[in-house]
Amino acid sequence: MSAALPATMQAWVVREDRHGDPVHAMKLETVPVPRPGIGEVILRVRAAGVNYNHVWACRGVPVPISQLHPDDPLHIGGSDAAGVVAAVGEGVRYWKVGDEVITHPNQSCGQCAACNGLEPLSCMHQKAWGFETSWGSFAQYARVQAQQLLRKPAGLGWAEASAYGLKLFTAYRMLFVSADLKPRDRVLVWGASGGLGSYALQLCRAVSAVPICVVSSPQKEAYLRQLGAELFIDRNQFPYLDAPADSPVPSAGMRQFRRRLRELTGGEDPEIVFEHVGAATFPTSVFVARRLGKIVICGATSGYQLTFDARYLWMHQKQIVGSHGCNSHDASRANDLVERGVIRPTLTRTYAFHQAALAHQHLLEDRTCQGSFAIMVD
Ligand SMILES: NC(=O)c1ccc[n+]([C@@H]2O[C@H](COP(=O)([O-])OP(=O)(O)OC[C@H]3O[C@@H](n4cnc5c(N)ncnc54)[C@H](OP(=O)(O)O)[C@@H]3O)[C@@H](O)[C@H]2O)c1
Repeated sequence: MSAALPATMQAWVVREDRHGDPVHAMKLETVPVPRPGIGEVILRVRAAGVNYNHVWACRGVPVPISQLHPDDPLHIGGSDAAGVVAAVGEGVRYWKVGDEVITHPNQSCGQCAACNGLEPLSCMHQKAWGFETSWGSFAQYARVQAQQLLRKPAGLGWAEASAYGLKLFTAYRMLFVSADLKPRDRVLVWGASGGLGSYALQLCRAVSAVPICVVSSPQKEAYLRQLGAELFIDRNQFPYLDAPADSPVPSAGMRQFRRRLRELTGGEDPEIVFEHVGAATFPTSVFVARRLGKIVICGATSGYQLTFDARYLWMHQKQIVGSHGCNSHDASRANDLVERGVIRPTLTRTYAFHQAALAHQHLLEDRTCQGSFAIMVD
């Protein structure tokens, strides 16, 4: 059921011999247009969302692309797309050529016991599309599993539709599935103006939970006020949180940070800490979480070797919970919130296709970044 796909396309490709910063690692190349396998769909990409995972892929850190997908030397990244179904493979039931869609990034085998009764994220073949696989959205055509597709919300333009999936769906799973968020819970949100954070705070507000937003400038605070945030901590006022690994924990800086947090909450510690910064914030996260509270973590931008004082974990019975991406069900629930206008996409910058490498360089270096970015592909 392949429609008339062209033979070749333009794609932003990373190859192992040029790992480094995005502007060095990403090159525009002419490559074959992929064909759909069983249960797969080829999308004509109209816009692609920018995610931090492609910075990791460009740098080859923590693993080079030969380890991400050993059978495929060319890496076309991009884990978020909005586009039109251009061809469907054998066995695809619910989508047809011409459908306008967005994607979620989780791929799994679909045939094992984990996929059929437990949880696709526990499949031994689970992968993040466009990061652990090639043929992602930074190309004119992308190859996805049919189960990755979701309706494009009718009221959104292509750029806006492409830029929220991975971040919103990951934040949704972190809060509702992994950390069991309840109304009135207090949630400390690190990097609240960033990709994940700008959705985490909206999800909290949607169920009357109370986000306490960590920011690094008055501009970021002003941006989050537009999204409904009310409680802020400027992390520049606590420069000593990021203590060397061998210094005593909790440090004076961490105690000051907790004091500020308690001022904002009326003396209560947060039931949930929303973590993705890693080394620089994790000791503080474990320290400030409430007794029996949860530190839910999906990333480690500042480093993935984490330290903390374990006494605060066991004496106060806290839990550290890992969370990764989303399954198809999480994604469709979260997408429904966008369709109903409960969650607003936080697109702040749109780049042309020829600027795809620059967009990632900005995500890496520009400390004024807020919300999320999209790249127009078509
Ligand atoms: N496992 C998954 O499924 C998954 C999914 C999505 C993202 N992630 C990972 O999660 C991380 C964040 O993603 P994102 O899209 O939200 O990135 P982002 O848009 O770049 O936002 C990250 C935020 O972290 C804050 N930050 C950076 N360095 C910090 C430091 N040293 N101390 C405190 N805050 C710091 C910054 O906020 P301020 O400067 O304003 O404080 C920034 O806005 C990345 O590492 C990404 O790879 C994982």
